[in-house]
Amino acid sequence: MTFQTPPSLTPKKGIPGTVPETYRSALSHLLIDEDTLQNRIREMGQAIARDYADKNPVFVGVLKGVLFFMADLLRYTPIPLAVDFMAISSYSPETRDQGLVRITKDLDLCIEGRHVIFVEDIIDTGLTLGYLLRLLRSRHPASLEVAALFDKPGRRLIDIKPRYLGFHLPDLFVVGYGLDFREHFRNLPFVGVLNPEVIKNQKRQPKR
Ligand code: IMP
Repeated sequence: MTFQTPPSLTPKKGIPGTVPETYRSALSHLLIDEDTLQNRIREMGQAIARDYADKNPVFVGVLKGVLFFMADLLRYTPIPLAVDFMAISSYSPETRDQGLVRITKDLDLCIEGRHVIFVEDIIDTGLTLGYLLRLLRSRHPASLEVAALFDKPGRRLIDIKPRYLGFHLPDLFVVGYGLDFREHFRNLPFVGVLNPEVIKNQKRQPKR
């Protein structure tokens, strides 16, 4: 089935009061609140459940950004399914620009002949995803589709269109709901826009 077009987003004020001050001061705007996220992920899960009801798919995610999205998406997809994870690291900024990544944890399951749904938190240039899809295709799954929560189409370098997409994002650096900046902010239940000043200041300091 065709999945409906993602809703449009506008950054707004109103970071929830429960957010610690160190995080609050680093965020310029709220982009997607918790209810909007959950409602959209529920729609995605329902669409996947309709399309894969009798296919016993394998959901594959890459750690760690996909953690929250995977957990919620699976809860909204009430069909028989399996789940597996990979972990990757970039060789260096130069090779990352060419989409080259090192697999630090491979799948435990064999996906040959299986229907695979690759679950991705965010597609930016698409280079990482492009590399991983080529790798998974070489293992001969029965089918391979992408379910991505966020897409920044304005920054795409290679042509990838997820079959299931949560939201198109503007070209802003966002954090929360699994997405990090230097390993922080993943635990926010909403998505916020990181203040560009924070990125500039951190770039001047060595990474810890
Ligand atoms: P790509 O290979 O350029 O598509 O890189 C995708 C990866 O970049 C994601 O899995 C994230 O780790 C990271 N990324 C891209 N944009 C953002 C963002 O706005 N916030 C946090 N991480 C991001």
